[in-house]
Amino acid sequence: MKELEVAQQAARIGGEIVAKYFRDGVEIRSKDAHNLVTDADVESEKAIVECIRDHFPDHEVLGEEGHEADISAEHLWIIDPLDGTTNFAHKIPHFAVSIAYFHNGRPEVGVIWNPIRDDLYIAARGQGATHNGQSVQVGSETEFKDVLIGVGFYYDRGIVMECTLAAVKEFFEQQIHGIRRFGTASLDLCNVGCGLVGAFFEFELSPWDFAAGQLFVEEAGGQITTCQGDRLPIEKSSVLASNGHLHEKTLAITKRHYEMTK
Ligand code: IPD
Ligand code: CA
Ligand code: CA
Repeated sequence: MKELEVAQQAARIGGEIVAKYFRDGVEIRSKDAHNLVTDADVESEKAIVECIRDHFPDHEVLGEEGHEADISAEHLWIIDPLDGTTNFAHKIPHFAVSIAYFHNGRPEVGVIWNPIRDDLYIAARGQGATHNGQSVQVGSETEFKDVLIGVGFYYDRGIVMECTLAAVKEFFEQQIHGIRRFGTASLDLCNVGCGLVGAFFEFELSPWDFAAGQLFVEEAGGQITTCQGDRLPIEKSSVLASNGHLHEKTLAITKRHYEMTK
C-alpha cells in the first residue's frame, strides 16, 4: 500500500529534523501558557507535508502546526510533527513523530517513530501492529491489580487537571501496580498496544495526538474510545485506550470523573 510507504518515509524525514534539533539545541517558545513550540515542530511539519503532497497532491493534510484540512475529505492525513514537545524541551528523549492516513473517516495507516531511541511503531488496517518489525499485542490482564495505568494531562491547570487527578486517585485505590505519565500521547497509545500498560486515558487530546495511535491500539487487539465510551471523533476529544479486557472497568472510572469537567 503506497500510503503506508509514504507514511514511513514522511515519519523518517520529520524525525530526522527533530533529532537534529534535539542534538544541536533549539530555542523554546511558548504557544500559550504551558504549551511549548520550537523550530523543530514547525520544520518537521513542513517537511512531512511536502513529502505527502509530493506523492498525493490531492489529499488533505491536518497538522498541529498550522495545516488545516477538510476532515470529511475522502483522503485525509493527520500529523503531529513532534509529539512530546515538553519532553523534547527538557532533553528527555521520549517524543515522536506521528502520522496517520484516514480513508473516508477511518484510520487505515498509523506510523509513530521515536527517532532518538529508533523505536518504530506501525499499524495498517487488517494487518496488525508492529514494533521495530515485531508483531505486538495488547496484554491479557483482566484485573486492575495486575497492571499499570497510563495518564496524560492536557495543558489546562484548572478543572480538567483536578478531575484527572481525582481519577488517578481512584485508580490507585483499585490496587493497580502504579500510574505512569510519560508525556507523549502517541507513545502512550503504543504502550497500550505493546501490553506495557493495561490502559491509558487523557481528558483532552487533539486528533494529531491520537490518530495514528488509535489504529495501533485496535490492530494490537485493544479498544479505544472517548472517556465516555463513544467512538473517537476527528476533533478534540477525551481518549481511553485499553487492552479490551479492562475497558468497561476503566470506563466506569473515567466516565464519572470526565463528567465532572463539564
Ligand atoms: C502533548 C503530548 C502530551 C499530552 C498533551 C499533548 P505535544 O502533545 O502528547 O503527552 O499530555 O495533551 O498535547 O503538544 O507535545 O504535541
Ligand atoms: Ca501532540
Ligand atoms: Ca506536537
